[in-house]
Amino acid sequence: MPAPCLELTHRQEFSAAHRLHDPALSDEENRRLYGPCNNPRGHGHNYEYEVTVRGPVPRSGMILDLNVLTVIMREEIFAHVDHKHLDHDVPFLQGRISTAENLCIAFWERLAPRLAGYDGCALHRIRVYETRGSFVDYYGPDA
Ligand code: NI
Repeated sequence: MPAPCLELTHRQEFSAAHRLHDPALSDEENRRLYGPCNNPRGHGHNYEYEVTVRGPVPRSGMILDLNVLTVIMREEIFAHVDHKHLDHDVPFLQGRISTAENLCIAFWERLAPRLAGYDGCALHRIRVYETRGSFVDYYGPDA
């Protein structure tokens, strides 16, 4: 009988500024597309993001040590984005319009290689909350 597969999630919070603006569009087109999120001097959010790994439960009883997941998220994401301007201060977000969708994709690209080193579990989902009531889920490029 195969071991049951479970999902383990850790959530962290960060505060950051950003501005939605597509350099390929005119100022007028940007205003129409993004509305108040195109405010020239930017605006801030209290973001939350969740990382879920999935795998069978081994003898240890842990899909992945929660302390390991916490540290990886701090090192790869939190340390780079907290109290930053996402469009100016974060090298791995350069060239992307800083929507929650694009944050999910960028976070996946940073976390997947780190988590690949842990046998028996796989990165399953990234969830980014831009506000308490709104979030985006990403299940990776193969989903
Ligand atoms: Ni915003």
